Amino acid sequence: MGRRALRKPDTTIDLSAHLKTFDQLPSPWNAESLLGRVAPLEVEVGSGKGLFMRSAAAQRPETNFLGIEVSRKYALFAAEALAKRGLSNAVVVAADALRVFDELLPDASLAVVHVYFPDPWWKKRHKKRRLMRESFVRDVQRTLRPGGSLHFWTDVEEYFQTTLELLAEVTALEGPLEVAETPAEHDMAYRTHFERRMRLGQRPVHRAKFRRRA
Ligand SMILES: C[S@@+](CC[C@H](N)C(=O)[O-])C[C@H]1O[C@@H](n2cnc3c(N)ncnc32)[C@H](O)[C@@H]1O
Repeated sequence: MGRRALRKPDTTIDLSAHLKTFDQLPSPWNAESLLGRVAPLEVEVGSGKGLFMRSAAAQRPETNFLGIEVSRKYALFAAEALAKRGLSNAVVVAADALRVFDELLPDASLAVVHVYFPDPWWKKRHKKRRLMRESFVRDVQRTLRPGGSLHFWTDVEEYFQTTLELLAEVTALEGPLEVAETPAEHDMAYRTHFERRMRLGQRPVHRAKFRRRA
């Protein structure tokens, strides 16, 4: 499914607090200096246009959020939405999440990892490009604090099943725990833009939650 063109960025908005590059992230890692305070940190991998980031940051001001989005134009779009709403508890980094996890995020530093509708890479020869690969799921387990959770949603049943098998094989995460579909009470009451598209298009959504054992 193609993606609609994004509206032009508003160059009058100061994005310095909401949009970072990989090189602007603290190394060694320091979430406090990035988000200005100590709070539980949730990471969304592949945050796209940022619907989850802006809804979650507004609904849960006590939590810090970091969106990681490899496409700079989508990262910019999501950061602009955060800046416009004055959400100081959320930042988007335009970077490859595999690298952020591998090189920066320390053990037991995250409360939650969110992965919603990662690119499916349908062709057999491209499947090795999928985000949910062995090195990454090991990094998710390592970076989650005990009791922390992973949310993984996709519309691609084969990707869902393969990932569940991979998680069972190479991690000790508890799950899959069932996640119920919630009714959408208004046009943007979906977890992400892709969930909205799938549900409006009558496409199935597979959801699972995993927990790092305490
Ligand atoms: C299919 S879209 C889903 C976007 C959003 N999660 C949603 O549900 O609406 C997948 C997103 O993941 C991003 N992405 C793919 N690989 C990535 C990586 N290695 N690191 C960060 N973002 C990545 C893509 O650029 C794209 O925006």
